[in-house]
Amino acid sequence: MEYKEQIARDDQTYEQFMKNLEATYPFERMMSRYRCAMMEIETKFNVLNEEYSLLFDRQPINSIKTRLKDPASIIKKIRKLGKPLTLKSMEENLHDVAGIRVVCSFVADVYTLAEALLKQDDITLIQRKDYIANPKENGYRSLHLIVEVPIFLEREKRIMKAEVQLRTIAMDSWASLEHQLRYKKETLFNEQMMQELRTCADLSAELDAKMNDLKSQVEHQSPQKQ
Ligand code: GTP
Ligand code: MG
Repeated sequence: MEYKEQIARDDQTYEQFMKNLEATYPFERMMSRYRCAMMEIETKFNVLNEEYSLLFDRQPINSIKTRLKDPASIIKKIRKLGKPLTLKSMEENLHDVAGIRVVCSFVADVYTLAEALLKQDDITLIQRKDYIANPKENGYRSLHLIVEVPIFLEREKRIMKAEVQLRTIAMDSWASLEHQLRYKKETLFNEQMMQELRTCADLSAELDAKMNDLKSQVEHQSPQKQ
């Protein structure tokens, strides 16, 4: 069967189908650019991890997770901000369409890696939120960076924004458990439960501090490779 007929057999005409496809193309192209920005930044961290593992015989990065915000969440957030629903507005107002989460071994690694990324001459820092030095009220800890990174396409260079979250394994496990507990259940959380959540975050931070201290002691004993 002719493919035009096939498309027309579904509940739209071929012309409607092509029109819809054309309408979604600019959005798909924009999402693809965000995906490229994520790949660039992920590679930068992989390169740093490689170098540190040569220098110190250990890997400062435990895992890297990337995610693209889905269209429904994008629309919801633009509406919440009261901004126009256009691609230009999305680029200007949303900083977290591309997200890179870097889970580090030790607290010191979080800052070392953030500094190493920001030192690179193609990275521009837009915003830095240190929820490790200043945890959120519920106890959430992480270092958040909004950065701009260039991507090089066939005919042009585009500057894209991305959100980088750096945290330790302990911070990551707290955040993922808290997310599971709280997701769509906000009304169930009373003050006592919030207090317990904060206590768990503080205990987890204590563990991080102790492990980080132990790391310093070990490093003090074994001199760095040349
Ligand atoms: P968003 O509208 O959520 O992007 O908030 P924001 O622009 O004020 O940014 P913020 O730095 O507060 O948080 C951005 C992201 O950090 C969220 O999308 C989550 O991934 C993470 N995050 C922030 N707060 C919490 C928290 O309390 N719990 C967990 N599990 N994650 C959090
Ligand atoms: Mg967000």
